[in-house]
Amino acid sequence: MLGQPRQIFVLTGAGVSAESGLGTFRDRGGLWSRFDPMRLATPEAFAADPDLVLDFYNHRRRDARAAEPNAAHRALARAADTLAARGGHLFLCTQNVDDLHERGGSAEVVHMHGELMKARCTACGTVSERREDILRADPCPHCGAAALRPDVVWFGEMPKHLDRIEAALARADLFVAAGTSGSVYPAAGYVGLARARGIPTCELNLDPSDNADAFDAASYGPASETVPAFLAELGL
Ligand code: OAD
Repeated sequence: MLGQPRQIFVLTGAGVSAESGLGTFRDRGGLWSRFDPMRLATPEAFAADPDLVLDFYNHRRRDARAAEPNAAHRALARAADTLAARGGHLFLCTQNVDDLHERGGSAEVVHMHGELMKARCTACGTVSERREDILRADPCPHCGAAALRPDVVWFGEMPKHLDRIEAALARADLFVAAGTSGSVYPAAGYVGLARARGIPTCELNLDPSDNADAFDAASYGPASETVPAFLAELGL
């Protein structure tokens, strides 16, 4: 069914980083079962209690820094290199804010929900690398204002890079979703766009996602096994 795709669109979610020790959101014991996203991941929450929100993301940043990429991250990086050497392209779109794809060897990662390891100044808009905690009094390296926030997308904000993502979807000849519950839009709608174009779609997840019915094919199990095995089947 899959043949030899040349333009692969891969969408990843928290399940791909789960075996690296980073919690998912909606599984039992997941982040959003323990913390209220409306108090931690919205612009209104940040305005109401910036220290609480910064502290939450400082903890997540520390956890992400301490984590190591797993076999799924590494297999995706290798597959992108192999496909590129054959004149194709693997577009890696992630909802994850960690940097495990990059540290797993992926040269090009599109973070539609932003990046934990970056800060954005709410005064001048400058985005800067940030691997350490962000504290309320920290000055922006560009304008000096004490107005930094994590450069992540909160509920009620627009995901990033949507034009690039839609362009990649429009030229893809295979759509793969890995480790995502398919419950947050617009990412959850991408399988529908892929199907409307008539390209094969496959889900790699621990168990059937919320939109499992939308996929042509699926492989269920831990991402560290299903992702390398699926790519190997494609010769990547
Ligand atoms: P979720 O927590 O909603 O879903 C994670 C999915 O990964 C679930 O379907 C799990 O079954 C699956 N999973 C868990 N462990 C796995 C493993 N070892 N291997 C494979 N799959 C596994 O996470 P996302 O779909 O990424 O947004 O959530 C999407 C967005 O919702 C996030 O980017 C975040 C969140 O609110 C924002 O913060 C804006």
